[in-house]
Amino acid sequence: MSAYWDDQADTIETAMRAVWSEDDTDFGERQLDCVNRIEGLLQPWSLPRAEVLEIGCGMGRVTFPMAYRNPSHRFAAIDISQQMIDRALEYQIEYSGETIRNVKFIATDTVPVVAIGGAYSMLVFQHLDRAAVKTYIRDVAAVLVPGGRFAFQFVEGEYHSDNDHRYTIDEMAYWCFRAFGRAVEFSHDDVYPQWKWAVVVKR
Ligand SMILES: C[S@@+](CC[C@H](N)C(=O)[O-])C[C@H]1O[C@@H](n2cnc3c(N)ncnc32)[C@H](O)[C@@H]1O
Repeated sequence: MSAYWDDQADTIETAMRAVWSEDDTDFGERQLDCVNRIEGLLQPWSLPRAEVLEIGCGMGRVTFPMAYRNPSHRFAAIDISQQMIDRALEYQIEYSGETIRNVKFIATDTVPVVAIGGAYSMLVFQHLDRAAVKTYIRDVAAVLVPGGRFAFQFVEGEYHSDNDHRYTIDEMAYWCFRAFGRAVEFSHDDVYPQWKWAVVVKR
């Protein structure tokens, strides 16, 4: 799996196309739409200065605006592909003209074993099989502090890519309930009708 994403991330332009699946390499307004959405779902932050985990950060399209706009939080951004993370380190200079200091990148497909105050993931779960999705949900539940929120996007139904897995709302609800012991809330995406967002809060 990492080999596929490593191959896509040879240059900043190929990485942009891979994470965005569009020819247009300017993320434009959609980038802000996504960040606003995630920020909204994670509110209220459980702890004012807690560490926030991003799963499958790619080249940091969401990571940098999140970190930039929330300077009192530290962000741990994980991705299975070291090449994607290398592109993220280039992109941050393009994005902000400077090193953004409240983000650390880790090349891994495993949730770090540290207490986290919030977690999010976008455009990742649709690329993972059931076992991997269930493992992420279980492991995030294990490290979130009480009151911490996990917001993630997934695809229900038809999608445009061969490289995807589909899950039903019922399956997601069950996996979250098993891991968190409480109900997940779902919402539709305003930009992409096939996207679903889920938010679940640690007890
Ligand atoms: C479509 S891109 C989305 C990147 C980013 N979330 C965004 O929206 O710009 C999917 C990312 O998930 C990463 N990925 C794939 N499988 C993963 C796994 N099991 N754990 C962590 N990251 C993974 C890929 O390397 C890639 O960077």
